[in-house]
Amino acid sequence: MASNRTFTMIKPEAVAAGHAGKILDMIMANGFRVVSLKYTRISHHEAGAFYEVHKERPFYGELVDYMASGPTYVAILEKENAVEDFRKLIGATDPANAEEGTIRKRFAESKAKNAVHGSDSNENALIEGHFFFSTREQH
Ligand code: RTP
Ligand code: MG
Repeated sequence: MASNRTFTMIKPEAVAAGHAGKILDMIMANGFRVVSLKYTRISHHEAGAFYEVHKERPFYGELVDYMASGPTYVAILEKENAVEDFRKLIGATDPANAEEGTIRKRFAESKAKNAVHGSDSNENALIEGHFFFSTREQH
């Protein structure tokens, strides 16, 4: 995957609340092209591996339970400067600190249940994309 790609998940509470269509619409309206898209439910084991960097954090157990609690949409997105621009579009981790017009400001319930994930580096975007999609599924 090239460095103009990022990876996202629409998290379980946002899917359950029926926000997935509007979130995908916002993503596409902001110039991101969908390279891969899947509706899936992450197992507890997969969620643990996906967020392994946070293993030592106090919220790790809660985070893993939450991410495995229901289906999610996972996607690889393409745009110039994708990682940074997507982090701008989703807004701060805690919606209380997220700017107007961001996805988290509009759809996040709380700091923990914050509607979407966005990769934090080109390297992690690549790893996370390959976690869910084979090369054959990237268009
Ligand atoms: P993400 O990785 O999901 O895009 O979120 P992020 O970079 O904005 O935040 P990060 O620090 O990587 O945290 C990962 C996810 O853990 C949950 N979290 N809960 N209860 C808490 O204090 C807390 N802090 C973080 C959130 O779901 C966050 O997105
Ligand atoms: Mg993060």
